[in-house]
Amino acid sequence: MKESLEILEREIMNGFKAARSAVDIDNLKKKYLARKGPLAALIKELAGLPAEERRILGEAINEAKKRIEGVLDDALATLRGAEKSERLGKERLDVTLPGRSLPSGRIHPVTSVTSEIEDIFTSLGFEIAEGPEVELDYYNFEALNIPKDHPARDMQDTFYLSGGVCLRTHTSPVQIRVMEKRRPPLRVIAPGTVYRRDSDITHTPMFHQVEGFMVDEGVSFSALKGVLTHFLHRLFGEDTGVRFRPSFFPFTEPSAEVDIRCVMCAGKGCRVCKGSGWLEILGCGMIHPNVFKSVDYDYGRYSGFAFGLGIERIAMLKHGIDDIRLFFENDIRFLRQF
Ligand code: PHE
Repeated sequence: MKESLEILEREIMNGFKAARSAVDIDNLKKKYLARKGPLAALIKELAGLPAEERRILGEAINEAKKRIEGVLDDALATLRGAEKSERLGKERLDVTLPGRSLPSGRIHPVTSVTSEIEDIFTSLGFEIAEGPEVELDYYNFEALNIPKDHPARDMQDTFYLSGGVCLRTHTSPVQIRVMEKRRPPLRVIAPGTVYRRDSDITHTPMFHQVEGFMVDEGVSFSALKGVLTHFLHRLFGEDTGVRFRPSFFPFTEPSAEVDIRCVMCAGKGCRVCKGSGWLEILGCGMIHPNVFKSVDYDYGRYSGFAFGLGIERIAMLKHGIDDIRLFFENDIRFLRQF
């Protein structure tokens, strides 16, 4: 039996010398030191021996087992450590490599002009409102004092849907929607998309407007002039010439159009201002009593002004763009310039 023990120990040590990896060692442990392995079998055989022999052989087996375990476990620890540092070595990151840059987008000029206008008016205490693009005829026309036979109702201009519904042709219906729900004092701007059946180098079937209005007791035409002049000076520069011309809108009385000195030729007269030296920039006026009537405001007590302007037109003037359709063609060479 002592001999079998020596043979077994030699066999294990040979296996150990041949081992190349932690897995090999682990397999050796599993094979020889397992509960039903050859060493355990030897211990079982002890039972049949006389007491004295059993003690001596038992000790020998235990010592051999401890030796084997010691050697195998040490080797396992060393190999595992080596394997780990080898893996870490391979996986090392070179943090000095330059990163890959992500292509960045640009803000669309319509978006940036809208934010600029919003910033100016919110700094004056105006709040921002929105309304639906698919609008009832009532809000788009009727409540704004646009009579049934007004030319703006012509099929040429409006996209009609069925049953008293259309695509809004301007942002003015937001005036009605806000006033219907709330009482003065109100200072509101309403940017948004509008639709008209029109298409050439200065018109697209969809474009953007900003509506603005202020209603309170004692709001005068000079308040309108003051606010809009201040606004245009901030948008186009302090020295920009501004003039008010009488005009007509069904929902304001009196009404005016506002021009600025041509930003292209400084007023000398050019292709953009068609030789006049002035550029038409917005429509405005004092809110018509009939509009107040349709939202149940006391027009003896309250007064207000309203204005509306086209965003693309402003962006075109600011950036010297001569064809409005460029805004919506999504040509990356155009968009990258902003
Ligand atoms: N809604 C008008 C338009 O689209 C602009 C406007 C708004 C005029 C408010 C006066 C007051 O042309």
